[in-house]
Amino acid sequence: MKAAYCSQAGGPEVLTYGDVADPVIGDGDVLVRVEAVSIEGGDVISRRIGQPASERHVVGYQAGGVVAAVGAAVTRFSPGQRVVAHAAFGSHAELFAAPEAQCFAVPDDVPMDVAATVPVTFGTAHDALFEFGKMAAGETVLIQGAAGGVGVACVQLAKRAGATVIGTAHGADRLERLRGLGLDHGIDYAREDIGARTKELTGGRGADLVVDMAGGKGLAQLLAALAYRGRFAAIGGSSGEFPVFTFRDLLAKNLTVIGVYLALEIGTSRIRDAIAAYYSEIAAGQLVMPIDRVFPLSQAAEAHAHVERGHPFGRVLLHP
Ligand SMILES: NC(=O)c1ccc[n+]([C@@H]2O[C@H](COP(=O)([O-])OP(=O)(O)OC[C@H]3O[C@@H](n4cnc5c(N)ncnc54)[C@H](OP(=O)(O)O)[C@@H]3O)[C@@H](O)[C@H]2O)c1
Repeated sequence: MKAAYCSQAGGPEVLTYGDVADPVIGDGDVLVRVEAVSIEGGDVISRRIGQPASERHVVGYQAGGVVAAVGAAVTRFSPGQRVVAHAAFGSHAELFAAPEAQCFAVPDDVPMDVAATVPVTFGTAHDALFEFGKMAAGETVLIQGAAGGVGVACVQLAKRAGATVIGTAHGADRLERLRGLGLDHGIDYAREDIGARTKELTGGRGADLVVDMAGGKGLAQLLAALAYRGRFAAIGGSSGEFPVFTFRDLLAKNLTVIGVYLALEIGTSRIRDAIAAYYSEIAAGQLVMPIDRVFPLSQAAEAHAHVERGHPFGRVLLHP
């Protein structure tokens, strides 16, 4: 099959388009003929710093398509069904294998391009805000990286759950687009101080919950933005660095840091039920995931460069 593979970690240029062996499925696996690859923020990080498992390592966590084959122990899927699959690697390819528990049935009325983005974006937002973040109506949530895939999902879910939603992004135009999805206040992190601006927007109190997709140097501003007894949900490191907290950081305001890692929960019936409900709401037009651009799989390197440097809005896809 054709795939975008790498033999070493590095920038987008390490991705090569070419032939690799088809995946071999085990008894509990589903093989998907891929129609849409959702480029995850995590795909970019694993390409940049991960250890390739082989000479032709296919990166990528999530893709949607049609079931091509199933292992002997699979009960929920059969060939021909529409599905989105999640696995540790392998999505940037014509065929993608994943454990049955990490596969999600896609309703007929949800286009595959949008469906392919959903489990990680809405699943992570759901866990960051509710399962682990314990967000309550009336609270103020600050979303760092609000125009990315997880961020766009967070803005929508937090708003409709009754939060005042503050989000950060690079550039006023993308913040304006987020207003249409429920953002109350936008902060251009390239030009404004997140801590000072959040304090100003909350009458000096600060945010109850920070959901941080970026990590890195913005951490001090995010900590300054938090209210006394605030919660910090650590999600990612899209800035290129993961957040590191000191003893003083935490004690200064009796803060709580919450680790959220969807990969440890994505195979549970809890997440499966949540994603099924989100698919219904997407079909009904109540939730959206904007598709910024679609690249052919053969241009995976260009697509990764766009995700890293082009400030896309929502998700970027690959089509085999
Ligand atoms: N823990 C988990 O379970 C989990 C699940 C999903 C994702 N993640 C992680 O969460 C992160 C986001 O994932 P994603 O899929 O949403 O990625 P994405 O769609 O690529 O979005 C990443 C966002 O991060 C923002 N960003 C980058 N550098 C920044 C900086 N210095 N300051 C502020 N914002 C910055 C970007 O905003 P601008 O374009 O506006 O600069 C971009 O919108 C990734 O690190 C990913 O690995 C973790």
